[in-house]
Amino acid sequence: MTASVRLDSVNKIYAAKAKNPIYAVRDFTIHIEPGEIVALLGSSGCGKTSTLRMIAGFEEVSKGAISIGGREIHKLPPAKRGVAMAFEGYSLYPPLTLRQNIAFALKSEKLGSAETNRRVEEIAGLLELTRHLDRYPSTVSAGQQQRASLGRALVRKADIYLLDEPMGQLEPQLRAVLRGRLKRYLREHGLTAILVTHDQTEANALADRIAVMEGGVLQQFASPADLKEKPANLFVGTFIGEPPMNVYRVEPQIFNGRISLRARGEELFGYEPGTIDDAVVSLLERRNALVVGVRPADVAVSPLNGARGATAKVVSNQWIGDQTHLESAFGDGVIVATLDNRFAARAGEALAVDVPADKLHLFAEDGTALAHGRSLASGGAH
Ligand SMILES: Nc1ncnc2c1ncn2[C@@H]1O[C@H](COP(=O)(O)OP(=O)(O)OP(=O)(O)O)[C@@H](O)[C@H]1O
Ligand SMILES: [Mg+2]
Repeated sequence: MTASVRLDSVNKIYAAKAKNPIYAVRDFTIHIEPGEIVALLGSSGCGKTSTLRMIAGFEEVSKGAISIGGREIHKLPPAKRGVAMAFEGYSLYPPLTLRQNIAFALKSEKLGSAETNRRVEEIAGLLELTRHLDRYPSTVSAGQQQRASLGRALVRKADIYLLDEPMGQLEPQLRAVLRGRLKRYLREHGLTAILVTHDQTEANALADRIAVMEGGVLQQFASPADLKEKPANLFVGTFIGEPPMNVYRVEPQIFNGRISLRARGEELFGYEPGTIDDAVVSLLERRNALVVGVRPADVAVSPLNGARGATAKVVSNQWIGDQTHLESAFGDGVIVATLDNRFAARAGEALAVDVPADKLHLFAEDGTALAHGRSLASGGAH
């Protein structure tokens, strides 16, 4: 029932014969395990829907191959692929009620009306749609239409489930509740699912692995934890995490074993001999310039008197209900720190900021990751 999915060097080129063809997806390769939940995450226009539609068979693959459960499917018609899809634009049948819309997806399974009804009611309950089942799409809200569309995909028995922004229209509370239910449902039935979203909280909460896309190109395919701790490049580093990673272009200087990461002659971060691992030190020795990334949660701030670290001047101090976001002028830019508690500091106040060596993310000037804390990234080995 549940199946693996492989995309091998898949490309989508729209208007291929026109003067300006559109490269929506380029050489996209991912291998998904049976029962795995994968999210395609990226900004608008990065190629998420195109990828999903190629898997479902609503767009031709321009180049490359797709298989499901070891069977090459990219030349088969959609109905022969064993795929259930919830569309970005819902595409419900207007003359049918929500109940009939969801039941319609069960037609090919030739169930009796009692069993069809049972399945429809089960999915409707899961999606908080029970009260609206006998209404027509044009008489319910966008969020209700979207849930009906998700229900129509989930109610079917398929080898894989493709869900394109299935909860984009819902308010945050309902979205969080349904996210939990959707995950439980997929897990209980051991289903393989590919979910498209541009909400990283949703991707983190639901997915075993996330494929981060930008400009039609896969940037990294990894678990939520690895994306956060070991971003493959500066794009992923700054895209994943809220508020985003602080980034500085620095020139490393090493003097008597002390390492100084400097921007325009000013030290941003300094490390005493022995605090940075040898492998990372030798990487710093080999580079005239690189980019250092620091997550806001890894920035330690303290009152200036006697504390170690460089000086920063508070620009804004915001308590957002469960965290403090502190933005300070630093070097010739800013540094953002997040703290779990309220922090007494007013705009204009000077603070010491310090980042432990094992929290530094180092990138080459072209954005390739070199090291994350103590571990070298593949780009850092040479
Ligand atoms: N039918 C089409 N003809 C021509 N270009 C298209 C077509 N569909 C999509 N594109 C282009 O392909 C690129 C990828 O579009 P796609 O819809 O896959 O992005 P997306 O990641 O799903 O974006 P969003 O988050 O806005 O839904 C975009 O540049 C888009 O304009
Ligand atoms: Mg889309």
